Amino acid sequence: MNWWETDFISVQGNRLRVAGEDAGALAKRYGTPVYIYGKDRILERYAQLDNAFARYSTLPARICYAMKANPHRGILRLLQRRGAWIDAVSPCEVETALKAGFPPERILFTGTSVSRADLRTVFAIDGLTVNIDAAEQLDLMSEVRRRDFPGKALRVSVRWNPGIGRGFNARIITAGKRSSDGTPIKFGVDAKKVIEVFSRARRLGFHPVGLHQHLGSGWVREDFGMVKAAVDRLIRKAREVDKAGFPLEFLDFGGGFGPRYLKNRAVFPVEDYIAYLSNAVTKAGLAVKALAIEPGKYMVGDAGVLLLGVEYVKESYGNLFACVDGGTYNTVPRPAIYLQAHHEIVNASRFEGPHKARITVAGNLCETGDVFGRERSMPLPESGDILAVLCAGAYCRSMASKFNLREIPREILI
Ligand code: LLP
Repeated sequence: MNWWETDFISVQGNRLRVAGEDAGALAKRYGTPVYIYGKDRILERYAQLDNAFARYSTLPARICYAMKANPHRGILRLLQRRGAWIDAVSPCEVETALKAGFPPERILFTGTSVSRADLRTVFAIDGLTVNIDAAEQLDLMSEVRRRDFPGKALRVSVRWNPGIGRGFNARIITAGKRSSDGTPIKFGVDAKKVIEVFSRARRLGFHPVGLHQHLGSGWVREDFGMVKAAVDRLIRKAREVDKAGFPLEFLDFGGGFGPRYLKNRAVFPVEDYIAYLSNAVTKAGLAVKALAIEPGKYMVGDAGVLLLGVEYVKESYGNLFACVDGGTYNTVPRPAIYLQAHHEIVNASRFEGPHKARITVAGNLCETGDVFGRERSMPLPESGDILAVLCAGAYCRSMASKFNLREIPREILI
């Protein structure tokens, strides 16, 4: 069995099966490029997290799907019906979640650089919680409330920056003073200002209910130590907040744990993590009513593949290219954006073959960086073969653009 095989994607008779069907047949039916998503895999992920909380925590869990990973309507509805909550980061995400049936009470809006217009939109929705990203954001919030919603009860929480962050590359580390490449981190409230933000929020008439952090994205096993340290920090800060006279309804530990993208990377121990944070909250004796996490890529990453058609195989200066009918920016932009992003690529038409070669999978955009994978060992493709880009369920369609005026592919949820 290959390391990436699951019930959603597997090899049978030298061909790839996706969501119970031959990948070639799916490609023929829907055309390429096309995203295929598997409902069962998403539900399996949800159930795993839900069960872990049931096992380790005495408090109710809020599994807030970070819909930025993939806001597909069918996926949202599926999770809504299971009882998921939503982490939304823009007014349009909030509205999309509402349309998919999420009640406002199950939506946390965590904006950054929010505008007065953003605030007007979200304040109009009764029951929603607005996460404060900056002490200075309170000035805008107060102004909008006074002008457009005088006297309205509004639930708020505080996203603080715990001073340490973790992620698979510098661009997506979201806590700490600076990222690993030196970029100042824009997210969250400085530890020194947290109590002041709670006090001011209350003085301004808001109802503070939670404390939140998000460290970054794409954790693997080796990140667990650092993540535990950040859990401890959140709990220490929550005790301070509580002592200062602000009892908290919930603690939100954010998202960050990834599915397996690479053979040689051990996955983050999600269940141990849930056990750890649940115990830590109990031990601290905090009287919170619920615990929240915000998984994005873990929920949907490996529940999606992108199928591409090979147009021709090109040789140039000794390099071999499978020239495919999609471009990275329009489909799976992650490898073009993040040097460290890796997506396994499988020849779905001939999984094993006599002539293995080192193939660079080249897209149809006018950029040298438009390659899905560099010099991957695979059976020499032929024109008409289908290649599958794995782990394409998260941050692929949602980050795709129409660069070069090429269309973004269809999505099929099976
Ligand atoms: N909560 C907040 C407030 C977030 O900003 C994010 C992601 C999440 C939760 C979910 O994180 P996850 O569980 O998916 O790691 N485009 C990048 C990922 C950026 C994530 C940004 N924030 C990628 O393709 O890897």
